[in-house]
Amino acid sequence: MSLSIIVLAAGKGSRMLSKTPKVFHQVGNYPMLFHVLDTAFQFKKSKISLVISDSLLKYEVFLKKKYKKINFCIQNEQRGTADAVKTVIKKIKKKTSGYTLVMYGDTPLIKKKTLENALKKFEKNNLDLCVISMIPDQKENTYGKLKFSKKKLIGIVEQSELKEKSLNFEFCNSGIMIFKNKYLYENIGLVNNKNNKKEYYLTDLVEIFNNKKLQISHYTSSFKETLGVNSMVELALVNNEFQKEKRNYFLNSGVFMQAPETVYFSYDTKIGTNVTIEPNVFFGPSVEIKNDVYIKSFCYFDNVKINNFVTIGPFSRIRDGVEIKNEAKVGNFVEIKKSTIGKNVKLSHLSYVGDAIINDNSNIGAGAITCNYDGMKKNKTIIGQNCFIGSNTSLVAPLKIKKGSIIGAGTVVNQDIPVETVVYRKSELIKKDKKK
Ligand code: UD1
Ligand code: CA
Repeated sequence: MSLSIIVLAAGKGSRMLSKTPKVFHQVGNYPMLFHVLDTAFQFKKSKISLVISDSLLKYEVFLKKKYKKINFCIQNEQRGTADAVKTVIKKIKKKTSGYTLVMYGDTPLIKKKTLENALKKFEKNNLDLCVISMIPDQKENTYGKLKFSKKKLIGIVEQSELKEKSLNFEFCNSGIMIFKNKYLYENIGLVNNKNNKKEYYLTDLVEIFNNKKLQISHYTSSFKETLGVNSMVELALVNNEFQKEKRNYFLNSGVFMQAPETVYFSYDTKIGTNVTIEPNVFFGPSVEIKNDVYIKSFCYFDNVKINNFVTIGPFSRIRDGVEIKNEAKVGNFVEIKKSTIGKNVKLSHLSYVGDAIINDNSNIGAGAITCNYDGMKKNKTIIGQNCFIGSNTSLVAPLKIKKGSIIGAGTVVNQDIPVETVVYRKSELIKKDKKK
């Protein structure tokens, strides 16, 4: 049977108190919405619709480029989750034979496996509606509560509509639901907004289906996967869970971390084998670490590839498109931006290297700086193989230092240097007697 997926992301997100639209807040340096859409797109043959508000229209071109074939639906007024689903149903060709999976853009940790298991239960038991439920860690929570009668699911009570003060609800609603298309299309129009929020709740369909004696049930997921984000506190909670999972993943793939709880990964961080990460290291997006790498404390990486047998840190900041080749050594207080560091290069102390290529086996002394910015534009520095750049040198770009050259300590180099050349500035050291 054919599967349609509807991702709801039009909500105002007012509880976030933020200018950024809620679903664009990040988990592991990746918008929540992308986590959800990536999971949805793993169901290869399904038709995927996204409901956004018109305030998100500026992302349309970008989203269509990233997620080809996505069906874009605009919900002009945020009148509730049932109304959001309706905007899709109005727009699509109605295939009454298949089923629809509804996902929420603010529930980013849900896994494909869980959805597959719920879909299996849905098919096997020939259900008309299946709610993905969970049991929150705390009885007091803001999730919709599943209501049962003699163990049979009969409805969902939203927190805002809860009359009973008792906390006798065990299962809560993750927001994710599966419907047989036929009954979804037939009944969505019956949802009204006669409630405290004056919203059209998708969850009301459970009671409507039950009244019509349709087959309804629930599939229970782990609570962690279904954590929803409505506030910054919940965003922090979800990020925390995401990090825990990433750390476990890397620990289980042989990465050694003395204090894993202090290491922050991105959604796409790649790390090879026999890698050690000391405490307090941050991995921004697009970082790939190969094998046998040693990362000392307090390093910050963002868009970096680090090859085999490299040692880095402590306190190195490496960013914006850097490749570090095998066996290079990058030491303390070194910043590298948009550069290639060759094999076995030593860049051990207090340097800034920006827009540069340093070729194999060169040694860069303490405090050497590429002066890459002339106030107007960024310029390149190219250092050949086997060069020795003395301490405290200023390399004024654009600049080429050809292979095998030696630059004396403290030199300001503002001309290209031919191969195998020794360069220094002659300035007399003056010594005077203090008393004279
Ligand atoms: C919803 C559920 C609740 C469940 C919880 C799980 C309803 C009525 N309630 O509550 O039972 O326990 O999720 O996290 O569904 N959205 C739209 N258009 C709208 C309103 C919302 O697209 O008009 C989108 C939001 O962007 C969000 C999702 O739907 O991604 C859920 O909306 P939200 O307002 O966060 O619902 P909750 O109060 O969290
Ligand atoms: Ca929510």
